[in-house]
Amino acid sequence: MSGFKLNPEFDASHFVQHYWQKKPLLLRNLIPNFSDSLSAEELAGLACEDLVESRLVSEFEPGRWQLRNGPFEESDFTQLPPTNWTLLVQAVDQWVEDVAELKTLFEFIPSWRIDDIMVSFATAGGSVGPHYDYYDVFLLQGSGSRNWKVGERCNSAVELIQDSELSLLSNFETVVEFDLAPGDALYLPPRFSHWGVASSDSLCYSIGFRAPSMAEMIEGFSDFVIKQQDPAQRFEDSEIASNMRRGEINPGQLDDSFRQLTERFAEKEKFVAWFGCYVSQPKYPELIVPVDQPFSKEQFQSLLTEDVVLAKNPSSRFAFIESSAASSVLLFVDGAMVVFPLEQLKHITALCASTHITPEQAYRLFSNSEMAELLRQLLNQGSLLVSE
Ligand code: SIN
Ligand code: CO
Repeated sequence: MSGFKLNPEFDASHFVQHYWQKKPLLLRNLIPNFSDSLSAEELAGLACEDLVESRLVSEFEPGRWQLRNGPFEESDFTQLPPTNWTLLVQAVDQWVEDVAELKTLFEFIPSWRIDDIMVSFATAGGSVGPHYDYYDVFLLQGSGSRNWKVGERCNSAVELIQDSELSLLSNFETVVEFDLAPGDALYLPPRFSHWGVASSDSLCYSIGFRAPSMAEMIEGFSDFVIKQQDPAQRFEDSEIASNMRRGEINPGQLDDSFRQLTERFAEKEKFVAWFGCYVSQPKYPELIVPVDQPFSKEQFQSLLTEDVVLAKNPSSRFAFIESSAASSVLLFVDGAMVVFPLEQLKHITALCASTHITPEQAYRLFSNSEMAELLRQLLNQGSLLVSE
């Protein structure tokens, strides 16, 4: 456990009210005495793993960048020049516990909004070029230092450099510029152009948030609605006017069809269930593996008497919705929903808030048969793990 804390001078509610999704902000010394959770060598090691997403970006001549996707071989790194390249590794929080722990510092934003922590190692002069991203990000500086230039908020009409897979901006104009030292962070709302250039060998932790596009959400919700349809329910003519003109689609038929379709998309209860499932879908479902031998109730009970700590699978996502109207609490884990009576709210809240379940918590939960069954199922499906 790294035990890092946010600077007590950081006012999270002021930040959320005035900056979150609105304006970039430099957060000097956001994490006092911050030190790296992994070394550049360990990061390079991760980039050699098949299950890990990684990229290497080199500025091979001024203003021209080349992208290579991992997994890499050790020899790929030994052949690199001493400057002007960056290695970026996605979702390091899935693999390094101290990096995962950094996410808990951002608890002033709902946990299900966090996507992952990408870590980059850049040599002096290394950068991925001027660009913008579609999501909020905190760029937390680890060892070394980086210069960050921030420009205007972009839209999709902005001109991009052709012949590059990197979606880099043709014209980047600096509005503000900062040099970041270890523990400093730069917050960027979606679509603000930026360009970070390493001043020396340096590590940067990008705490990135999820922002599905409207198209993705429409697709997700439509799939959910489609699955619930009865194939026997078909288009039906409401009326056919006696004076109809052959080939004409009459207004009555249009109105009926429009109503039937929109009604199916306008059911709030279904939307609520879908939304919770959607935002709790894991980024890497293949990393949530059911146990080989599922625990029976008795086996699970005796496991808890061994004082084990249960940890959430770093790939799992937990979220809940309190539905006072329905006197229920909806728990979402890894894209699935379980409904509990409202009396379980405090247990569900505690479960969603923590990364680990201590033996004391487990005992408390275990005395409640519904919660005990939930924990057992979560352990069997791989969303909870027995911590080492
Ligand atoms: C980097 O870590 O160098 C790039 C991160 C970003 O600009 O989004
Ligand atoms: Co970026």
